[in-house]
Amino acid sequence: MSMEWTKSRNESIGPVLLDRQTIQNRISELGSQIAGDNQGKTPHLIAVLKGASIFHADLVRAMELPLSFDFIAVGSYGTLGTSSGEVRILKDLEDDLESKDVLLVEDIVDTGLTLHSLVQNLKRRKPLSLKIVALLNKPASRKIDVPVDYIGFHIPDAFVVGYGLDYDQRYRNLPDIHILDFGK
Ligand code: IMP
Ligand code: MG
Repeated sequence: MSMEWTKSRNESIGPVLLDRQTIQNRISELGSQIAGDNQGKTPHLIAVLKGASIFHADLVRAMELPLSFDFIAVGSYGTLGTSSGEVRILKDLEDDLESKDVLLVEDIVDTGLTLHSLVQNLKRRKPLSLKIVALLNKPASRKIDVPVDYIGFHIPDAFVVGYGLDYDQRYRNLPDIHILDFGK
C-alpha cells in the first residue's frame, strides 16, 4: 500500500537494503544493456532532480557510447501520494527534444503518478523516442501503470533513503540505500 510519509523528528537510518557494491554492479549491467540497445544512436538522458542525480552520474559513466544529458526538476501540486499527480516543473530543460532519443532517468517509481505526468509532459515535446530507466521500483505502491523500460531493483514498500534519495532533503549523500526507521 502507498502511504503519506508524515514528517517525523524521530526518524533514524535503518538497515542497509542495497549496499554500494550491489548498486554499482547493477548499474554496470544497466549501462551495458542500455548502450547495447542504443548502438548507432546518441541518446539524450534527462535526469530528474534531485533524487536521480547520483544514479545518473554513475549510469552515464557505465554507458560506453556518445550521449548528451539535461536535467529537469519537478514537484507535485499536493503532498506525496495525492490523486491528481500533476507535476509542476520547477526547473525546465535547456534543450528541446525534437528528433532526440530520450532516456528519462528516475530514482524511484512509487505510485507512478509523478512519472506518468512527467512522461505526458515530455511526449508533448515530440521526442523521436522516449524510454525510462528507474533505479528503484516499488510495485506494491503503484496507482497508475507506467511502462518502465529498465529497472535497477524491485524493492518492498518501505521508505528508503541514500544514494540520492531523501527524507525532508536529508540523507541523499549516504553511499548505500537504507530503510528509514520512523521510530514509532
Ligand atoms: P510517485 O509519484 O509516488 O511515484 O513518487 C515519486 C517520488 O516520490 C520519487 O521521485 C521520490 O522523490 C519520492 N519517493 C517515493 N518513495 C520514496 C522513498 O522510499 N524514499 C525517498 N523518496 C521517495
Ligand atoms: Mg524526494
